[in-house]
Amino acid sequence: MRKEIFNVVFVGHVDHGKSTVIGRTLFETESLPKGKLDQIRETCRRNSKPFEYAFLLDALKDEQRQGITIDSARCFFKTEKRNYIIIDAPGHIEFLKNMVTGASRADAAFLVIDANEGVMENSRRHGYMLSMLGIKQVSVLVNKMDLVNYNEGKYNDIAHEYNEFLHKINIKPVNFIPVSGKCGDNIMNNGDKMEWYRGKTVLQTLDTFEAYEDMEEKPFRMPVQDVYKFTSDGDSRRIVAGSVSAGILNENDEVVFYPSGKKSTVLSFESFGKYNSEMYPGKAIGFTLKDQIFVKRGEVATVNGQKKPVISKKLLVNLFWLGKQPMVFKKNYSFKLGTEKVNVKLEKINLVLDASTLENIDKKRIDRHDVAECVLKLEREIAFDTADICLGTNRFVIVDDYEISGGGIIRKSLDEEYDWVRNSVRIRNQKWMHSEIDRKTRWERYNQKPVVIMITGNENLIRKEIAKELEKQLFIKGKFVYFLSINNLLYGVDADIKLGKENNREEHFRRLAEIANIMIDAGMILVMTARKISRADLDLLSIGINVENIELVWVGEQIDTDMEIDTHISENYGVENAVGKIINSLNQKGFIFNPW
Ligand code: GTP
Ligand code: MG
Repeated sequence: MRKEIFNVVFVGHVDHGKSTVIGRTLFETESLPKGKLDQIRETCRRNSKPFEYAFLLDALKDEQRQGITIDSARCFFKTEKRNYIIIDAPGHIEFLKNMVTGASRADAAFLVIDANEGVMENSRRHGYMLSMLGIKQVSVLVNKMDLVNYNEGKYNDIAHEYNEFLHKINIKPVNFIPVSGKCGDNIMNNGDKMEWYRGKTVLQTLDTFEAYEDMEEKPFRMPVQDVYKFTSDGDSRRIVAGSVSAGILNENDEVVFYPSGKKSTVLSFESFGKYNSEMYPGKAIGFTLKDQIFVKRGEVATVNGQKKPVISKKLLVNLFWLGKQPMVFKKNYSFKLGTEKVNVKLEKINLVLDASTLENIDKKRIDRHDVAECVLKLEREIAFDTADICLGTNRFVIVDDYEISGGGIIRKSLDEEYDWVRNSVRIRNQKWMHSEIDRKTRWERYNQKPVVIMITGNENLIRKEIAKELEKQLFIKGKFVYFLSINNLLYGVDADIKLGKENNREEHFRRLAEIANIMIDAGMILVMTARKISRADLDLLSIGINVENIELVWVGEQIDTDMEIDTHISENYGVENAVGKIINSLNQKGFIFNPW
């Protein structure tokens, strides 16, 4: 049977003894290769350097690194009960980066405080970060007790002070342990120096940490890492690959990918070894699907019928900022969650705290080492979970200029935007009176599939000319097509609303979508033009019309949008060529059936 692997991180202020405690633990548990200790003692002696237990850690890392790549701050060891990965957090920036990116997933933490120095800034910051990262099992080690003559009072003061702090940030420590990494007190055995403490030692505490919650009870989550094609001839299957964040997946399970909502059934597990009950967070899997659906990296695979992730692009988050530059409004950052990466802007700051003092600071930006509750606005929707469901789909990092500059957890979605539009569309769909003539019969009669061709691009271009010519050419070829000028709506359907006001824009696009929806239902090809349609406009439109029915044509040299353009028309193309290109694309995509 596979032994569980348990990840433990050691955090704390610089020089408080993290590496020493880890080194000593390795020593006491005889996890070191034979002769290693003597070898290192000898090297120290030769270099006239005092021996440090922390060196053992480095030596061990060197050994373990042979053959496998492990990140520099990790080492392995085992007890009777299970296997451990110990993460030594070297500096706190590295720590947060690793922790939040999931490079080092920790199930529990030891927070080390120097008995002589007492609680320092980073002791508190690290505590705060643990709480933000959702690491609830924390044991506090008051280290270097030998330096304070194993004084109980000194220990109690520190434990008391730090406990109060933890209480404020909602962490209930598993225990406090007075230790000496250097002398070995309370590491594996209690020893005789601190008769007044008969609680658990570091090793006993390790084995009492609880393993991750039962995987089987969690909904299945796997952020899609990549989709690989089989390379052999004629094999059109694709493997969807990623690492499991929670839950279990079985053959024949129906998977739904979010945010797209695409659905298929698991056909087989591939190439990553037999897929069995040995499931744990971080396990890499790959599977094929029954249907050839198009899935992108960044989507989250879930199992149909289980709890759905939240889909949103406006998030209330707790964020810890590490960037040299403060986080400011209006600036574009990258937001990374799981395998997803999307542009983000800071929209609102509710609260900024100094993470070491927990003092509330009133400011309009988030400085290095600040903790903030704020609102982030993503460029497009992502799928995420709340921290209690799955941390892997909850923790995020923010990248500024290629540097991880912040990270945190998502508290909830604030995406009430367009909610009423969505609602109205939902009701419309429910109340929709269906025709006796079904869609396909109509398509066959007209030799076309309905589509909205949205011609957009930079200003002062030949958009309208192209639109009119396109309508004409399609009509001549016997297609049912209509050029709907938005102007024609403004003074008619939109007569009661004034454009320019923000909520009127919503209403305008809602009406536009409703009209387009009726025409699509009627089987029409609809041509429209709009100057520089934005993603927000398109989002709004696509609430009312199925995105698969929208073809985006961009006119102009420079495509200055990140929307997926279906047809790109250069300025110097000429109307005729432009129309030819659009028609070609319609043909290829099967919107029109007759070959020309
Ligand atoms: P960084 O990785 O730099 O953040 O430090 P760290 O927390 O890993 O501390 P490290 O283990 O390197 O120890 C720092 C210094 O404190 C070393 O000189 C250790 O010998 C000393 N030290 C660590 N633990 C003890 C202890 O229990 N007693 C005494 N007297 N010294 C200790
Ligand atoms: Mg260290």
